[in-house]
Amino acid sequence: MWACKPQITDKKYLVGFSQCTSFDSWRKTMQSEMQRELSFHGDMQLVIKDAQGDNDAQNKHINELVEMGVDLLIISPNEAEPVTRSVDQAYRSGIPVILIDRKTNSNFYTAYVGANNYKIGKIAATYIASLLDGQGKVLEIKGLKGSTPFIERHNGFRDQIKAFPQIEVTEIEGEWGGEETARKRFVELMQGGNSFDLAFAHNDIMAYAAYESYRELSPGGSLEIIGVDALSGPGGGIDYVTSGILKASLLYPTGGDVAIQIASDILHGRPYNKDNELVTTVIDSSNVHVMRMQTNKILAHESDINRLAERIDQQRVVYKNQQYILYVIAVLFVISALSFAFTLKLLRERREINKSLKKRNEEVSRQKAEVMEMSQQVNKANQSKIQFFANISHELKTPLTLIQGPLDELHSSNTLTGFMKKDLELAQRNVRRLTGLVNQLMDFQKIENGRMKVRASKTELVGFLKEITDSFRNLAKKGRYTLIFDSREDRIDLWVDKTMIDKVFFNLLSNAFKFTPPGGTIKVILLPVPEKNEVVIQLTDTGMGMSKDQRARAFDRYYQGDDSRADGTGLGLALSRELIAMHDGTIEISSQKDVGTTFEVRLKMGDSHFSEEQLSSDGDQLVNDHEIEDGFGYEDGVEASMADHEFTVLIIEDNQELAAFLKRKLAESYKVLWAKDGEAGVTLAKEQIPDLILSDLMLPKLGGRDILAKMKSDVRTAHIPFIIMTASSSEEERVEGVREGADDYITKPFSFRFLSERIKTTLANRAKLREHYLHEIPSDQSQRSEGKLNKKFVNDFTAVVEQNIADQSLDVNVICESLGLSRIQLYRKVKAMLGYSVNDYITTVRLKKAKYLLSTTDKSIGEICYEVGFSSPSYFSSTFKSKFDISPSEYRQNRANS
Ligand code: FRU
Repeated sequence: MWACKPQITDKKYLVGFSQCTSFDSWRKTMQSEMQRELSFHGDMQLVIKDAQGDNDAQNKHINELVEMGVDLLIISPNEAEPVTRSVDQAYRSGIPVILIDRKTNSNFYTAYVGANNYKIGKIAATYIASLLDGQGKVLEIKGLKGSTPFIERHNGFRDQIKAFPQIEVTEIEGEWGGEETARKRFVELMQGGNSFDLAFAHNDIMAYAAYESYRELSPGGSLEIIGVDALSGPGGGIDYVTSGILKASLLYPTGGDVAIQIASDILHGRPYNKDNELVTTVIDSSNVHVMRMQTNKILAHESDINRLAERIDQQRVVYKNQQYILYVIAVLFVISALSFAFTLKLLRERREINKSLKKRNEEVSRQKAEVMEMSQQVNKANQSKIQFFANISHELKTPLTLIQGPLDELHSSNTLTGFMKKDLELAQRNVRRLTGLVNQLMDFQKIENGRMKVRASKTELVGFLKEITDSFRNLAKKGRYTLIFDSREDRIDLWVDKTMIDKVFFNLLSNAFKFTPPGGTIKVILLPVPEKNEVVIQLTDTGMGMSKDQRARAFDRYYQGDDSRADGTGLGLALSRELIAMHDGTIEISSQKDVGTTFEVRLKMGDSHFSEEQLSSDGDQLVNDHEIEDGFGYEDGVEASMADHEFTVLIIEDNQELAAFLKRKLAESYKVLWAKDGEAGVTLAKEQIPDLILSDLMLPKLGGRDILAKMKSDVRTAHIPFIIMTASSSEEERVEGVREGADDYITKPFSFRFLSERIKTTLANRAKLREHYLHEIPSDQSQRSEGKLNKKFVNDFTAVVEQNIADQSLDVNVICESLGLSRIQLYRKVKAMLGYSVNDYITTVRLKKAKYLLSTTDKSIGEICYEVGFSSPSYFSSTFKSKFDISPSEYRQNRANS
């Protein structure tokens, strides 16, 4: 279907043809010659515009063709003068112009094609003269006045006929078109009584009109008629000559084919002639037959050529379309080849992906199996760990009993001093605490092994919980706590395992007291919720509260909490949750840091959530025997002991019991300061400049290592020896601590004697170091930032003293000001670093300088006295003597002698 589509115009050149008229056969022949010739030139397309003999129309057509952008113009001008301008313009615009058959008045054209009309006029005159033997009457029927063929044919005819004076010529206007003008004029002339021997018409059309009119007017008359054109084919000049209508016709070829050939030459840049003259000849009875045969042959050839050209055109269309189809097929082929390749690639990739997925799958399965195996192993390990802890716990129970027994016995003895009693009570409390922890561990192990069994009995909950709460009344009173117990109902009967629920609430209350500062409020509230068939027990405190993270991990068995709850809730909360869960109940926390905490326990009413064997009638005995941890027992009142000892030790420890113990013990040999968290420790150290700091590693607010860093980076405190107490015995931690400037690392548990020895040694080492400062700073000391700071301090301090040595008013205040330290800081620091009080040091420097001046200068003692800042020579002499056991003048004498 596509192949049979109408012709596709893809010609390279557009050729415009402005035809003056297409009315007659001669012009039709010209155009068909052009078309035929075009079929040999595949790259040209012809656009024809017919002006129908109108000059204005032709001018318009020429301009239109120029605007269309034609590559070349062929023009057959109607009249010369009226169209000259537009032809010139087209030519000047750069478009090649070929004039055909007629010309303009100018020379602005590229090429001309046509026979020589002047010559035609002359040949006609010569032929007529010979026909008439040089005498007779001739009628000239002229073409259109303004057209160049008329002018030239007329001129040629007149120039030549002049030679035959006996030939008389009459002229009429025929305007090329015979029918209207030539016929009318001829008839008028003949009817006017004129007669002629011969008529010469400028074309065969007008000649035939004269013939027809003459036959009508003078049948049998002898007028001979000659025309121009000699077209072949029916109704053409050759036919008229053959049939005797015309005496002769002068061949005037149309030149359509030649015009196209020249156009092609011009467009392709091939050489061409500007003037292309076509042949002309007289055709009369002597040659018309040959001519006719030839023209017939030519006509036959032409129609063959036309047919072939048509076929070629059709073939060309088919070829073109096939070519397009071929292109399309080729493109489709390339596309399908590409998509085939792409599909192949995709398939390969997919295969690869599948392969790797399969591999990964296998890997995942393998890992899964490994993980499962590992988790089984972990489970096993966990089990054996729990078992191990259980065994250890068991093992611990006997020694604990054996410690507790003798301790209790000793405690009841009358021979103990107050301090000994306190130590004993401390030991008793901690044995009990250990026993409690061991019991909790064993409970866990029971739960883990499924050996912990609920034995629920019907219990009156209000009385039961009130009793537990009341057991804390004493503690509440000591710490000025407000302890509230509140229940909506007087009685609530609930099925619970009393031993378990007792453990839970005892634990929750203990925690509430532990984490609520004295003076706070602790509330226990019971709310039955019958519509939900449950009882809610809320336990609220106004304690330190928990952060979000602490809250999230509060029930985590292995979580110890951060520094601020370093004491921890132990296993209590985790165990409580397990025990409540065994009652099909829930326990939840809501808490806000520094505001307080609420635990909410929900227990189900009725007994349907217990199995037959969990419900016991004899579960009424309660086996727990709690010791309430009395946090106030170790308040020994020693906030700070400033008894008259040489050195001050600052203890930074949040465990009040341990702090109290250390305070009490250390107060025997040192002044003691105590801070219960890191921040307080730092403040106290800066204010008081102690001689030694003993700090726990895990502390609320600021850990031991942070305190250490702060101390060592501050000039006021950099020199203070620092001992860290830690529960960890890891080697790396010790190394790290020492690297950061800790003087010692003591691992808990430690004996007090050991600690005491360490403190003593550290202070002694400090004293030795002080000696060094007095003389020279050891190089390894100065490498550490602490050493550098201390060296700087010593340098600054001694520089201030030395610069102002002559100033009698130099005292502590002046130095404090220039070093930016308080009096106490300066005093402590100088004492710690140099072993002197500030004033003693100043005096010593003054005297040393005096000694130097005495031995190296001739200055008088009076002069030296003022130079080193003494107010009077007598005071100078007495001070000098009391220091060196020798008077200044004796000293000078001795030096002079030696
Ligand atoms: C056709 C015609 C011819 C003549 C020529 C002159 O239109 O009249 O018969 O030879 O034009 O231009």
